[in-house]
Parts: sequence; C-alpha cells; structure tokens
Amino acid sequence: MFSIFSVDDLSNHLIEDMMHFDFAQKELISALAFLFFHEPSTRTKESFRLAFDNFKIPCIDMNFEMSSIKKGEGLKQTLQTVCNYKQKTICVWRGNNLMPKIHLPNVAMINAGDGINEHPTQALGDLLTIQQALGKKFTSNFLQGVNVAIVGDIENSRVARSNIKILKRFGAKITLVSTANLLSKNLANYYKEDFGCKITHELTPEILQNNQFLMFLRMQSERANARDLAVEKTTLTEKNLHFLHKNSFIMHPGPVNIGVELCREAFEGNQSLIGKQVENAFLARKFLIHKILDR
Ligand code: CP
Repeated sequence: MFSIFSVDDLSNHLIEDMMHFDFAQKELISALAFLFFHEPSTRTKESFRLAFDNFKIPCIDMNFEMSSIKKGEGLKQTLQTVCNYKQKTICVWRGNNLMPKIHLPNVAMINAGDGINEHPTQALGDLLTIQQALGKKFTSNFLQGVNVAIVGDIENSRVARSNIKILKRFGAKITLVSTANLLSKNLANYYKEDFGCKITHELTPEILQNNQFLMFLRMQSERANARDLAVEKTTLTEKNLHFLHKNSFIMHPGPVNIGVELCREAFEGNQSLIGKQVENAFLARKFLIHKILDR
C-alpha cells in the first residue's frame, strides 16, 4: 500500500498505468475506507464514495460530532484503532490545513485537498481529461507544444499548485493569468523561475487565441479576504468568449461561480470540459484505490 499526499507521489509509471487502465472492471476487495472531510465537498467526496462502492468496499463517513475525535482522539490514534480490525484501510482526508503525514502499516492516506497546498487527485483527473481531449498517445512529454493558461485565484488554489506540477512534468507550456491581488509577487516569481511559467495579469484576446486549454479556478472566498475578491480582469464573459480559439477547451475544477470566473455560455458550451473533469476525477480515484490495494 502507498499514500498520496502530493502530485510528487504520483510516479510517471503509475500515471502511464492509469492511461491504459480498464475503468469498467469491478472487483470485490477486502478493505475499509474512511472519509475524513473537514470542509464541504460534493465532487471529491461523492466520487470517492462511489469509487469505494464500485469495489464493494465499506466506506465510513466520519461524523466528527459523533466520533471519538470529539473526545480528543487524534487522527493517528483513530487510525491506529481501526487497524485493530485487521483490514487494509484507506483514509481520504480533506481540510483547511496541511494534511498530516501519517504512516501506519496497512493504512494508505489520500489527500483530497489540503488548504492551499495540493489536490493531487483533481490533477490526475484533469491530466486524463487533457489527454483524452488531445487524443494523443501518452508519453513522458506528451504535453510538449501544448499551451495551458491557468486563470484566476492562483494564490489560494490547491488545484493550481497540483496542476502546475503535473502539467509541467509532461511538458506543457503554462501561462498564469491573475491579478496582483490573487497572485503575489513571491508566488509569481517562484512559478516563473522554477516552472518556466509566463505571468500575465489580464485575460486578453491573445490568451484566448493562443492556449489550447484554459483552466479557470474557483474564487476561494473561504480563504481570501473580501477586498481580494475582484476578478473582472480574468473573467470569461459573453463579450470576450468569441475570442476563444475554436479548437481550445475550457476547464474548471468546480464548483463554478457563474459570472465570476466564467459566464454560463462558456460553462455549458461545446468547448467546455467541465463535466468531463468530474467524470475523469472519479475514474482517477477509482484507479488509485485499485492500485493502492494492489489488485
Ligand atoms: N473540485 C472539487 O474539489 O470539488 P468539491 O469541493 O465539490 O469536492
């Protein structure tokens, strides 16, 4: 068994296996799953639940108010307790802070989004979505020559942090489009120097013409100050939508704030991959469960 704390824990070999995985397979696996979600979630939580259900793995949604965590038991102690059931255990964790790196025999941890740090399973599903949209054979540099713009609240986005890592690894050329209130100088310099990202501050017609994938980010209102919420310069509106190249695709991890990150026409239009991202994040999670349990 192995844990996924970060995109760095997803090897190229594992990703290649996913690209060739038979997602239709159903098997019985003897294991237990625990969902530790300290933040609201629809897509991530329900897709994990559905994936465990696919393998007939009992999935326990930890109700913090009614569990021993309420009596002061820590996550590690709780997992040590469930280890006594002698089952392989998967712990799926989401919270506002860095995910605790707990290592216990027969317990795998999966990061389902930790604060502004990482969201590795979202990145894995997004990579699959991009590969399918390109219709290109997967190789270690299959994104060479592919331009991706990541647009919006980069400062507070774990999805941006995981996606920049995984897209860069496979050769994509990344442009970050964000206003100064949503991308600090330090973070912009880090992505410019260490990841070769281009930095711009406005969603211009050139950006809409020159990028095959435009990945919009949800405004993280729960993490940003009210004064930081202005995104007009990076919003995909009805007015600038017609500049979008006819072969380009719109992505968004969801939930979308219609009219804030993008307009309804962009969300529902035939260049949107947003529904596909939900489907593929589920498939990626199902694949990871299968691999972690070594089937
Ligand atoms: N993309 C994503 O993590 O969505 P949820 O918050 O609905 O899980």
